[in-house]
Amino acid sequence: MQRLYPSPVETLDPDELTAAYSVPQSGSWRHPWWLRANFVQTLDGATVAADGRSKALGTEADRLVFRLARSLADVVLVGAGTVRAEDYSPSTQPVAIVTRSLNLPADLRLFAERQPEHTPPILLTTSTAAAATPPWLADTCTIVTCGTDSVDLPTALRALSERGLTRILCEGGASLLTDILAGDLLDELIVTVVPQLLGATSANHLSVRPGGLDPVPRMKVRHVLEQKGTLLTRWVREP
Ligand SMILES: NC(=O)c1ccc[n+]([C@@H]2O[C@H](COP(=O)([O-])OP(=O)(O)OC[C@H]3O[C@@H](n4cnc5c(N)ncnc54)[C@H](OP(=O)(O)O)[C@@H]3O)[C@@H](O)[C@H]2O)c1
Repeated sequence: MQRLYPSPVETLDPDELTAAYSVPQSGSWRHPWWLRANFVQTLDGATVAADGRSKALGTEADRLVFRLARSLADVVLVGAGTVRAEDYSPSTQPVAIVTRSLNLPADLRLFAERQPEHTPPILLTTSTAAAATPPWLADTCTIVTCGTDSVDLPTALRALSERGLTRILCEGGASLLTDILAGDLLDELIVTVVPQLLGATSANHLSVRPGGLDPVPRMKVRHVLEQKGTLLTRWVREP
């Protein structure tokens, strides 16, 4: 993997790559947490392949950075739509799922393949949904209520940070990212661009918010890496 920006390096070694994605020191954070999102997209901005998942977009470089970003996070934050579409596996790493409905089928691998060593998923949900939690879900997950009829994202992020989960990695999807951006909660965006054109639509784009964002966050590029035609970019919100 080569670094194109800031200072060109022909071959980054694993330590340099890890350093390139290190989370800033907590003293510089805007909040008690650092919220980073990681997305892969095509040249024309599609984040979902024809099969309704993002896996087919992934390249070796994307998968490397996906794993690295996870290894640098305390918790993975993800929308229930992505968990359902991508059928997330159970993990020893904490995974927090944002869900208004708690509509999470028991046959998802996250639940069906769960072993004792796996960490119970954290469900960030509403008190309305929580009041009707199916018993099997209550036994399998940690349920955190963050609002009555909608999930208040700052409350959800605070709840994670109060559990010591301060380095938060959002893995999507677009709907959750859009709400994060609308709340001006994003600190960092990792965008991997793969050399494909698929045809972006409002249904598969990174973020779709009619009327735009207010305030409009300004992002500053931290690095641009390249491997076999995949561009790996990292952007940090300017104060
Ligand atoms: N290219 C990439 O890097 C990438 C990354 C991630 C996902 N994806 C793809 O994106 C697609 C999924 O994206 P998506 O936008 O449909 O789904 P999403 O954002 O993952 O999930 C949407 C669902 O999450 C819950 N949710 C999200 N934001 C919420 C909020 N602010 N408050 C309460 N609940 C909230 C709701 O769950 P309930 O319905 O349970 O109430 C909502 O229906 C999949 O096809 C996936 O493969 C691509």
